[in-house]
Amino acid sequence: LAGHIKCSLGSRPEYIPNRIPDQNYVRIFDTTLRDGEQSPGATMTSAEKLAVARQLSSSELTLSRPGSLPHRHIPVICGLSRCNKKDIDAAWEAVKHAQKPRIHTFIATSDVHLQFKLRKTREEVVNLAREMVAYARSLGCQDVEFSPEDAGRSDRVFLYHILEEVIKAGATTLNIPDTVGDIKANTPGIENVIISTHCQNDLGLATANTLAGAQGGARQLEVTVNGIGERAGNASLEEVVMAIKMRRELLGGLYTGINTKHIVMSSKMVQEHSGLHVQPHKAIVGANAFAHESGIHQDGMLKFKGTYEIISPEDIGLTRSNESGIVLGKLSGRHALRSRLLEFGYDINGKELDDVFKRFKEVAEKKKHVSDDDIEALINDEIFQP
Ligand code: KIV
Repeated sequence: LAGHIKCSLGSRPEYIPNRIPDQNYVRIFDTTLRDGEQSPGATMTSAEKLAVARQLSSSELTLSRPGSLPHRHIPVICGLSRCNKKDIDAAWEAVKHAQKPRIHTFIATSDVHLQFKLRKTREEVVNLAREMVAYARSLGCQDVEFSPEDAGRSDRVFLYHILEEVIKAGATTLNIPDTVGDIKANTPGIENVIISTHCQNDLGLATANTLAGAQGGARQLEVTVNGIGERAGNASLEEVVMAIKMRRELLGGLYTGINTKHIVMSSKMVQEHSGLHVQPHKAIVGANAFAHESGIHQDGMLKFKGTYEIISPEDIGLTRSNESGIVLGKLSGRHALRSRLLEFGYDINGKELDDVFKRFKEVAEKKKHVSDDDIEALINDEIFQP
């Protein structure tokens, strides 16, 4: 992991390279350390990568299927390589001592990449892909993933053909950076491999496309912590995993086996080590994801948390400083202020509360957030100074 090769972690409970334990199980393949680290401005030292790898692969992070006992989790360690022997040798050198090693090799299949980047014909590309998958298997690697890069803009019939050829050459997982319905229906031999999605976020649709891929039959989903990655980033681990958890029925019973209580810690660690901080309104892990500022929302939250929260913070390992995630600001109402005052030990009502609330509104108009220190100052001014 610590060498020059970029690695990714894949995980699942029972491991057979081209089989999943049951039809509803989706494997989560985390590529934070490879594609994530390709984000402009993100660099991690070897020690930082190792720390993130340990966090992601901790035996507690992944549990076995719901209902069965947790077991010691051994992650798949995967090295990415272009379709050439030198890269594949380097990837194998990096992962061969892992208990579950994998080589992931890729080559572009769209005409624009063939013409301007690779300067190769379709036939040359198919030959290379077939030979390099077979070469990876010949090194002793039982688990070989293949990606047709830029699959979304590739000719469909050519795509089915190259996928069929790499399956014959020994690929165990096919990673299609797009939705997969047609490919599943049209590629001979597809039942012998696992289909994987790898979605970038250029149109803000990486999570949606990943879920569409899972609905279309993909059983490995490639994601990164906080969605970091090239350009606009990748499908984010926390969004994909929580969407599958919270909308399991809608997604036909899919599940991942990820222990979601480690999400917040993983997110913080990747932010710290990569230097890429998530925006406050980032889904699931943003600072505001479980904060409530307007009076109507705060009133609802104080009555019943389910009014405005579809996920419970504990489920992702979040402990927040106050019970209801209430942030006091200029839109907050009396109910929220009274409840915060109660937390400070002041049970006030009537005129006393009216006076504090009036002062609070004046402060809130001037400040983005009214902090606990501000509240204390208000209490001192209004309650103790007649
Ligand atoms: O974005 C991409 O197409 C990739 C593949 C090489 C997996 O990162």
